[in-house]
Amino acid sequence: MKLKALLIASVMALAPAASMAADMTVGFSQIGSESGWRAAETTVTKQEAEKRGINLKFADAQQKQENQIKAIRSFIAQGVDAILLAPVVATGWDEVLEEAKDAEIPVLLLDRTVDAPKDLYMTAVTSDLVHEGNVAGQWLVDTMNGKQCNIVELQGTTGSSPAIDRKKGFGDAIAGHDNLKIIRSQTGDFTRSQGKVVMESFLKAEDGGKNICALYAHNDDMAVGAIQAIKEAGLKPGEDIKIVAIDAVPDMHLAIANGEANATIELTPNMAGPAFDVLEAYLKDGTVPPKWIQTESRLYTAEDDNKAIYENKKNLGY
Ligand code: AHR
Repeated sequence: MKLKALLIASVMALAPAASMAADMTVGFSQIGSESGWRAAETTVTKQEAEKRGINLKFADAQQKQENQIKAIRSFIAQGVDAILLAPVVATGWDEVLEEAKDAEIPVLLLDRTVDAPKDLYMTAVTSDLVHEGNVAGQWLVDTMNGKQCNIVELQGTTGSSPAIDRKKGFGDAIAGHDNLKIIRSQTGDFTRSQGKVVMESFLKAEDGGKNICALYAHNDDMAVGAIQAIKEAGLKPGEDIKIVAIDAVPDMHLAIANGEANATIELTPNMAGPAFDVLEAYLKDGTVPPKWIQTESRLYTAEDDNKAIYENKKNLGY
């Protein structure tokens, strides 16, 4: 095992000299376009590549891991200098990541983590996904201040690291607060349309929503879909049902400004900037980046100027 690690280290140390061409080519395997946040990440990644003169090969996987694996194999066959991967789910990557390693192509993970040995990728640029869930849970603990509250949860894509970690973080935060109880939890696949459909079923099952006091959604798009469902059920989102979610997309700021949602935790769509920074440093002089580059997570509530934030963000590619 030690020998293998040594071999990898020496391959990594040799690779930069061979790849120092100014016209770097990077393959980007993107999940798809399930959310406004995802669209913004795609836009920003393309802009960051253009700014730096990087030739970006973009592959949209339409939410399928098999398409991502195909794209990675195609990038390897084309001999790209590096691969950016936003992994749709956490497991099932070992084999293709081994292939990239054998081809001496560094892989950088964007916004989600994988359950694979750490030597199979160069770094992961992500937020602290557990912490995001924790901040959402703590916000509800503070807001409810001991009052009884039945919570419904819209989970992200099953098997994805944000769905797993955001669930855990929220659960940890409300643990020990007997007034707070998750009464229903189901995936809405990070999409607006599924968020609406699943919220409709929650409302129906819970006395038209009278039994629901709060919604925790693993992303804003599902929350925005749910807001529509809540309104159609004749209730006031943000008042009758408190809403906390994650991403801080423009529409969520607008919903908070309009009193139809209560809180969101920001996830920057600029994961590629830090990834390109460390990649350029590595290809220039062999600087090996840390395994995790953590992006910030900031809570926004009705106390912020959400109308102004909406105006600032609305043309940024969300
Ligand atoms: O991995 C990040 C998550 O994926 C975002 O929160 C969500 O909107 C996206 O689809």
